[in-house]
Amino acid sequence: MKNNRLFFTAALLLLLTGSCKEKPKDQITEDIHPATLQETFKNDFYIGAAINVNQIKETDSLMAGLLKKEFNSITAENMMKSMHIHPAKDSFNFEIPDKFVELGQKNNMYIVGHTLVWHSQLSPWIEKIKDSTEMHHAIQSHINTIVGRYKGKINSWDVVNEALNEDGTLRNSVFLERLGENYLTTAFKLTAEADPDAELYYNDYNMCQPAKRDGAVKLVKKLQENGAKINGVGIQGHWNLNSPSLEEIEKSILAYSQLGVDVAITELDITVLPSPWDLQGADVNQNFEGNPKMNPYPDKLPDSIQDKLAKRYQDIFALFLKHKDKIKRVTFWGVNDAQSWKNDWPIKGRTDFPLLFDRNLKPKEAYKAIISLKEKNKEDSRQ
Ligand code: XIL
Repeated sequence: MKNNRLFFTAALLLLLTGSCKEKPKDQITEDIHPATLQETFKNDFYIGAAINVNQIKETDSLMAGLLKKEFNSITAENMMKSMHIHPAKDSFNFEIPDKFVELGQKNNMYIVGHTLVWHSQLSPWIEKIKDSTEMHHAIQSHINTIVGRYKGKINSWDVVNEALNEDGTLRNSVFLERLGENYLTTAFKLTAEADPDAELYYNDYNMCQPAKRDGAVKLVKKLQENGAKINGVGIQGHWNLNSPSLEEIEKSILAYSQLGVDVAITELDITVLPSPWDLQGADVNQNFEGNPKMNPYPDKLPDSIQDKLAKRYQDIFALFLKHKDKIKRVTFWGVNDAQSWKNDWPIKGRTDFPLLFDRNLKPKEAYKAIISLKEKNKEDSRQ
């Protein structure tokens, strides 16, 4: 009995010293304080998240803690769009935008204003304007009032959002109709005057498709020829598991940065769900809502797809790291899957998994996969 006890004590001691030997002290501390996104990429680019009203108000303390731990940049998901911030000619809603800016300042974050001139989520009073002088005054008062209020506080503005068609021509928006193509130059010049230090971006989706890329390059060149200040191009990054290809993403990063401007990935999310546009011969008027084929993972994402998502994020971030000298910021369009607009777009009521944190705010495989890219770099440089 006594011998037995001795044996167990010795075995336990051996085990303990053995395991300590395997794990050097610094590694133990690393496990207890794992790297966060913002720390991991702090020498590469800002890591941002789009945040909604509850996140701005910090109603959920777990969410609030995660946001400031992981991210060093924020974008307002909806509350600075014209229908919310400027709902009528002489009326502005600054309560939530003010809180948004305070939150960013309090946490020393890079604050992004989204967005000044956009045809969507547009205030009805602007949409109804028929006269060109009146439209000019509307844009002027919108930009002067909002950009002026946050002068020196908002780091970067998405000045114009989604001005292009898929073929690279200018979208026939109410702005183009009333003011002609010069509305873009006007918007950039007004913003630069209202806050000379803010960084000014043109932002759009499908920016890695060749025709649209050519259109965006032309658009930026035109602004530059017209003497407007533009600091960067925003690639929204609403992508899926297969598309766009890494080659096309790389071509776009190169094409935009060759214009002498920064590149930002402004609204990154990667849907794992089927797209109604991929269904060959699909009747576009068909109602996809409630169709189980279009919502294949209502309860849980299968491991195989979780792995695919992680691999896709890892490939994309490896590319971003390759071009970190050109990329200023990578912003996710939301913090966790529950918050994502992709649950309701382009089909309402689905369960999507496009972000790095799950519905319980736990980091997903994709999170670990992108962090591990830098850990690998660290190991390589140690050798
Ligand atoms: C989305 C928001 O996430 C949704 O909550 C809202 O209902 C619609 O707009 N491109 C943009 C973003 O520039 O502003 C959009 O945000 C997503 C597409």
